[in-house]
Amino acid sequence: MASIEPKASTTVMLTPQGEFELERMPPNPQLQAWDAADQYLLKQIDELKILTRQSRLLLVNDNFGALSVALADNHPVMVNDSFLSQQALYRNMQLNGYEPDQVTFNSGLPLPHAKFDVILIKIPKSQALLEHQLYSLRDLIGFDTRIIAAGMSRSIHSSTLKLFESILGPTTTSLAWKKSRLIYVTRDQALNQGQSPYPDSFIVEADREYTIINHANLFSRDKLDSGSRLVIENMPASEKYRHIVDLGCGNGILGLIAASLNPEAKLIFTDESYMAIDSARINFEAAFGKNREAEFTVTNCLQGIANESVDLVLNNPPFHQQTSVGDTIAWQMFIEARKALKPGGELWVVGNRHLAYHAKLKKIFGHCEQVASNKKFVLLLAVKQ
Ligand SMILES: C[S@@+](CC[C@H](N)C(=O)[O-])C[C@H]1O[C@@H](n2cnc3c(N)ncnc32)[C@H](O)[C@@H]1O
Repeated sequence: MASIEPKASTTVMLTPQGEFELERMPPNPQLQAWDAADQYLLKQIDELKILTRQSRLLLVNDNFGALSVALADNHPVMVNDSFLSQQALYRNMQLNGYEPDQVTFNSGLPLPHAKFDVILIKIPKSQALLEHQLYSLRDLIGFDTRIIAAGMSRSIHSSTLKLFESILGPTTTSLAWKKSRLIYVTRDQALNQGQSPYPDSFIVEADREYTIINHANLFSRDKLDSGSRLVIENMPASEKYRHIVDLGCGNGILGLIAASLNPEAKLIFTDESYMAIDSARINFEAAFGKNREAEFTVTNCLQGIANESVDLVLNNPPFHQQTSVGDTIAWQMFIEARKALKPGGELWVVGNRHLAYHAKLKKIFGHCEQVASNKKFVLLLAVKQ
């Protein structure tokens, strides 16, 4: 039995290292901030006794800081592409009585230049991200480094194991425990050919030709999403759009075309992924050079954007957070967009028809109009009254 009394939005994770109260970001009382793979990994660390006080510990893709908190005494470095994970890390350190600086956060752009004794990897949703990370980790692995990965069995495929085998070296797996598995990897130092294929690129034909560069963790990394295409084909242009936000910008494709069709506008790109914001910046500078003014902000939705300061928000919302499907983030984006818009300002949203964003926009804005559609997607407009 847990002795900690959890708050409405937290749950308690029981591990051999102790009991930890953990919260997701954004807080969600329906979803845990940890999974069985975190517990399995912590159990294994304890049984194998591979961590000493001196061990230099690297934690890769620790979603909401569960591993970092449980292993905080080792002052780990946590690598994660997500701003929400970073915020969850700080929140959970504080909830469990640790100082935030007991863990060093690293976005992976680039990874720290150091060797580690123990590297623990949570399998990310994106196989491309895992591939990129495994190549990048090669420089951080010494002769004695222990490497263990963990994930829910449903996210570990034979192709996942092949990546470990082909990039790092011999790989074995554990028995399943509570539908999770561990992956043990021994680094074969002779295996050093090949390199990360990311960032990669594709071409978009719009008002002109754009080469779109994408880091490994990008949404629709290898081709233009058909929802994004619907926005591009109907991109609004007017002198009244002085400040335009590409909310959840990914590689920045929506903001890029908006900037081109609205040459006087100032663009703001926001995303919670560090790789997304870096890709958007690279793509914007390639299209317009360094002289065109724009802001690139890693943040949660529109945090940090002043109320009533924006004329146009463009948004293709996410429909999942890591492996959890849901519309919590989309709701938050619409509510924050309304706050950020000036009176008369416009929110343009594209989404899969079945997600029924029009109903949410009607609730928040009091009305909503369909601007365009194709077989799968609808493009919706809500104006702040
Ligand atoms: C469906 S993709 C759209 C990307 C791009 N706008 C496009 O049309 O190709 C949604 C984007 O929202 C970002 N995102 C998810 N949660 C977010 C949050 N809380 N705040 C800001 N961006 C977020 C994701 O990283 C992803 O890049």
